[in-house]
Amino acid sequence: MTTPSDWRGTAPRPRLAILASGRGTNLRNLLERGYPIAAVATNRPSSGAAAVAREHGLPLGEFPQSRFPTAAERDAAMLRWLRGQSPEIVVLAGYDRIVPAELVRAFAGRILNIHPSLLPAFAGGMDAVEQALRAGVKITGCTVHLVTEDVDAGPILQQAGVPILDGDTALTLHARIQAEEYRILPAAINELAAARAELSERTS
Ligand code: GRF
Repeated sequence: MTTPSDWRGTAPRPRLAILASGRGTNLRNLLERGYPIAAVATNRPSSGAAAVAREHGLPLGEFPQSRFPTAAERDAAMLRWLRGQSPEIVVLAGYDRIVPAELVRAFAGRILNIHPSLLPAFAGGMDAVEQALRAGVKITGCTVHLVTEDVDAGPILQQAGVPILDGDTALTLHARIQAEEYRILPAAINELAAARAELSERTS
């Protein structure tokens, strides 16, 4: 296990591709921590994540469904573009579509997803924070896991618990969960990059 830290020192620097549809605060956090971002792909050109990519001059692939006749064609175009950017690790940071099996296979073992619950609780939707509030649980949190073809069910790399406080709304609770996301997503990336470096040393 690596400690959650910023990216510095002699450790390998993974080129990241980020898939995002939302505000892009995880993307911003990774940039601020010095991670090299090789690509940002989005299905929502008007999202905060796309704005962060433009602001930082990052390669931005825009794949809104409206530009493609079918979802399969959109997914295929996104995969082609992503391959062309040669990322080492792909991160789903608020991507609101199920990732197609072809993409999972193309980057097998090197795609991470961040989900705002303690998986396997509240898996499979975009409303995990609301679900936790509705269920009346006292603790929720966030999880970073490897992406497999089963949604939200791949091996877990990092988790952080967040207590639900009296009077919490989806907004206040999500803000506290995100503070933990900014810590565990870099930690999971470091962990995966270190494991991959060790493997390639052993096999070279
Ligand atoms: C995060 O809460 C993440 O867990 C979920 O989508 C949100 C993305 O946040 N999958 P942001 O766009 O990085 O701010």
